Amino acid sequence: MSSSDTPSEKPGQQNPEAEAEVTRRDFLNEIAAAALGVAGLGATVVTIKYLSPNVLFEPPTQFRAGSPDDFPVNSVTFIRDQEVYVVRTLAGFYAVSAVCTHLGCITQWKPEDDQIECPCHGSKFTREGTKIAGPAPRPLPHFALRLTADGQLLVDKLETVKETQVLKV
Ligand code: FES
Repeated sequence: MSSSDTPSEKPGQQNPEAEAEVTRRDFLNEIAAAALGVAGLGATVVTIKYLSPNVLFEPPTQFRAGSPDDFPVNSVTFIRDQEVYVVRTLAGFYAVSAVCTHLGCITQWKPEDDQIECPCHGSKFTREGTKIAGPAPRPLPHFALRLTADGQLLVDKLETVKETQVLKV
């Protein structure tokens, strides 16, 4: 091969092929570094998750339903965010779960029929929670209801009480 076949290299001028080779190597090094970075980040996340406690954050089971004066006598009030009915009768107050005992649908108070109805499979309950019709296996449970020191109704969904228990105010 004669010297005229190979590209002549002058001092200070780089071979374009060598430049491409370095670029390719740099690229591969960057890919490798990125892969190591992703793997390291994944390992860090898994380690932090492993070390953090497995705590289940649930909403509080007690809530203030309001002042007794907010509830007219002979009324059924649906507390939507708590899925509870607060019922006021002449005898006093009680709180009934709005969650159907069949498959857990949220029931609806139907004042025109004076009953609580489940839209899913047609279970019906009295305002006391007693089952009238449908596939629900149990009545709607009553929750503990008491007055706070500042005169508010406090419902505790963790504590069920007998249907006959009424808060006299
Ligand atoms: S969930 Fe209420 S009747 Fe089925």
